[in-house]
Amino acid sequence: MPQKNTESALSPEDAARLEAFEAHVGKGGYVEPKDWMPERYRKQLIRMMSQHAHSEVVGMLPEGNWITRAPSLRRKMVLLAKVQDEAGHGLYIYCGTETLGVDREELVEALLAGKAKYSSIFNYPTLTWADIGAIGWLVDGAAIVNQTMLAKASYGPYARAMIRICKEENFHKRQGYEIMATLSKGTPAQKAMAQDALDRWWWPSLMMFGPSDTNSPNSAELIKWGVKKKTNDELRQRFVDLTVPQAEAIGLTLPDPDLRYDEETKHWNFGEIDWDEFWTVVKGNGPCNKERLEARRRAHDDGAWVRAAAEAYAAKRNGHNRATAA
Ligand SMILES: [Fe+2]
Ligand SMILES: [Fe+2]
Repeated sequence: MPQKNTESALSPEDAARLEAFEAHVGKGGYVEPKDWMPERYRKQLIRMMSQHAHSEVVGMLPEGNWITRAPSLRRKMVLLAKVQDEAGHGLYIYCGTETLGVDREELVEALLAGKAKYSSIFNYPTLTWADIGAIGWLVDGAAIVNQTMLAKASYGPYARAMIRICKEENFHKRQGYEIMATLSKGTPAQKAMAQDALDRWWWPSLMMFGPSDTNSPNSAELIKWGVKKKTNDELRQRFVDLTVPQAEAIGLTLPDPDLRYDEETKHWNFGEIDWDEFWTVVKGNGPCNKERLEARRRAHDDGAWVRAAAEAYAAKRNGHNRATAA
């Protein structure tokens, strides 16, 4: 894979710094905001972290859709808390991204202009209440697998954000699994609703881990620099291995006729992902891509008065502080 940051283009001083940097992260060392880092490391982290922050925020939309229709007060409170947590995750990771010297406004503008990516999973619709169960169980479950790895990432602010976020994601996953378990023990119609949600969300959840290793241009570099510790396919396999027994335990069937346990490797083999669907959604043509971006733009416009008020308040406080200091 061609790399823009070739060593031949570096000054002798930077070449030495790069060598020291790679030795440091190679030993599992952390990189902090004021440390020297290769420009490409900084850029890759901005790309990954901002995509992650956008995903947390856009991810509130499909579930927010069900807050008013949750079937009981308990479910409503839990879902409300979960969606609110996702907003917190977004803010946390935007703050982390800012430590790399980028402005949050710039990141948000890139999202609203359709230039920045977020997780494709949120471009699928939530058609029934069971979808809220499937999302918590599968989507937050897949996020935990990915984020547990990122909690060991070489960039300190990102790793530390992940530790806290993962604790909340575990609660998200459990509330989703509990919804699915309850529905599958319910009436035949409720069980069918849970199975239908699982059928629709299973494959998009597997796609959350990104392209296969043979088609993932950034992976090798991210692994070399300790940002990622495992490849997309390794993480996907771990998620499948964890989820198969969970589906069995609540009497639901994963929609994959090729799913088979391999006694030798001790892993579950699974069928081929529909990569055409994957790329269609990544390129902006999934079922809800346009709707999601429109909703974010509307929310941003509707929030203009809050930003203006916060700025006016900050200016007033600054004026007040200066007056008291003088
Ligand atoms: Fe989250
Ligand atoms: Fe979550």
